[in-house]
Amino acid sequence: MFQKEQQLIEEKIKAYCQANDIALAELKWQPIPFSGEWGFATSFFQTAANEAKLGKGDKAPVPQKAQGIAEQVKDILRRAQDGSVEGISRIEAVKGYLNVYFKTSDYARRVVDEVLASKADFGRGASKGERVMVEYAQPNMLHSFHIGHARNTILGEVLARLVEFAGFETIRASYPGDLGLGVITVVWMYEKFHKGQEPQDVHERGQWLLKLYVEATAMLEKKENEIPEQTAQREAFEAERREMYRQWDAGDSYVRELWKTLREWSLEELRDILRMLDVKMDVWFYESEVDEPSKAIVEELIARGIADDERPQGGAVIVKIDEKLGLTKEKYRTNVILRGDGTTLYLTKDLALAKVKFEQYHVDRSIYVVDVRQSLHLQQAFAILKLWGFPQAEKCHHLGYGFVSLPEGAMSARRGRVALFKEVYDEAIKRVLSVEAEKSADIPANEREKIAAQIGLGALVYSMLSVDNNKDIVFDINEALSFDGRTGPYIQNAHVRANSILKKSKIEGRKSDDLGPSTFDYELTKHEIELIEKISHFPNAVQQAAEEYRPLVMAAYAYDLANTFHSFYHAVNVLQTEDEKVKRARLRLVAAAKQTIANALRLLDIQAPDLM
Ligand code: ARG
Repeated sequence: MFQKEQQLIEEKIKAYCQANDIALAELKWQPIPFSGEWGFATSFFQTAANEAKLGKGDKAPVPQKAQGIAEQVKDILRRAQDGSVEGISRIEAVKGYLNVYFKTSDYARRVVDEVLASKADFGRGASKGERVMVEYAQPNMLHSFHIGHARNTILGEVLARLVEFAGFETIRASYPGDLGLGVITVVWMYEKFHKGQEPQDVHERGQWLLKLYVEATAMLEKKENEIPEQTAQREAFEAERREMYRQWDAGDSYVRELWKTLREWSLEELRDILRMLDVKMDVWFYESEVDEPSKAIVEELIARGIADDERPQGGAVIVKIDEKLGLTKEKYRTNVILRGDGTTLYLTKDLALAKVKFEQYHVDRSIYVVDVRQSLHLQQAFAILKLWGFPQAEKCHHLGYGFVSLPEGAMSARRGRVALFKEVYDEAIKRVLSVEAEKSADIPANEREKIAAQIGLGALVYSMLSVDNNKDIVFDINEALSFDGRTGPYIQNAHVRANSILKKSKIEGRKSDDLGPSTFDYELTKHEIELIEKISHFPNAVQQAAEEYRPLVMAAYAYDLANTFHSFYHAVNVLQTEDEKVKRARLRLVAAAKQTIANALRLLDIQAPDLM
């Protein structure tokens, strides 16, 4: 909020320290919580410690030295009260800290004016000059999109929005798993028993592929009390499935075509779900496309002495990660990167994928949104990238997330026991519509469906974001679609209320955008102060969430902001305010709150409706 002032003050401090040979440490600024005045502070402890280490000045203890520096800086800043740093009411040096305070009316005006001037860009960070790739929404194909995939996609999209808004150039990437026996099982089942029976609707067809998988798994599974004919039948099917896998691997054109067609059905469903979730992928990598390149990488790693080729002894190609990194305790273990029969592993393909990300897309940071159970796998991949010499290996990050299960137990694609995203989504809209029909008769019928989708999805998305990513979720549809308490619709409702105040004020002939400058030179109520303060924290919340790669930070912020607004709404009757000047200031504050709520919701991939 005060970058400009902080910068000006910093320049003066730096110049002073340079002229006086003081070893200034990096200045970190923190807001001072409101106690009659707003301000920000920085400490000189690190600088004092630097000085002590260099043996400069007297032998005073560090805290005393820090206080001394704070006082000197305060003096030069006071002398420089030449108008270059606006709006400062006073500066103090306390316990090694420099506290800079602003006039309350000035601060309030600046917060509100900045939001209203920046609009959708309020809170956007300056460019960081670094490129980030966020990889998410990478389900295995032909298995249909369930609520666990939705958690992944929502976390990934929100993280992408956060890092982008915080100032990173951001690339969104998907990496569908499109090979392996599980995928081929569906192709085999289709070819053998269901050719031409596919439903035409995109979602029905995607879900139908999962049914084929469930059917095939049951058929190929050994049963209790099998009669010999059944055993023979099952074994024959198994042989066919394996043979098809072999043909796929050998590049057989018929099998490849068939596989491509089915993969495309699966992708069509995925693309439509991404559209529903407002996700626009920039890059699509496929597991099958990095398979061949990964073989060449194995050769390179052997040649460079990173991998050991034990094939001559009847073994595989392995990387003794711990040993090569010089670790004495077991951490990453030893890993196979090529089997004796020449086939690659999941890990091998991840090495090839990372190379493409680094070399073709020139990413400085690479984030993987993947289920926590793959944590060791990814740490191993990052460790090998380090041995391989990629500087970006240090900036690879795994955003893990906990398991999503159902009240009746773990989801299982094999058993067909999954909560499909599309079904939950449809149910969400249905529920909102039935409530709206009773409560919101004033919403035009053609608007209702759109708003219902915004709210239903808002509830679902927020339920996935308000839980720490590391925690498991037992997905209960009633809980996920609840509209009370800490939920998406509660936040959306704050936006709707702010909007309704502004709309009513227009009816009375005043436009919120056209109210002139905000003047807050009256005694602000507690609720106004709290709201202004919350709004002013938004840019920090953006930076914190992006730096820590934690969507939860923004989810919690959005709820707090909405909560603060609801309290303000109940306590302060904006439209009934008698003093015209005060009313104008309050209307601008409401407009600023509305904008900030909308910006926070947008980062959370939740729509901000004007009515509900
Ligand atoms: N397709 C994988 C799965 O469903 C997730 C891919 C994760 N990304 C990666 N680069 N390994 O388990």
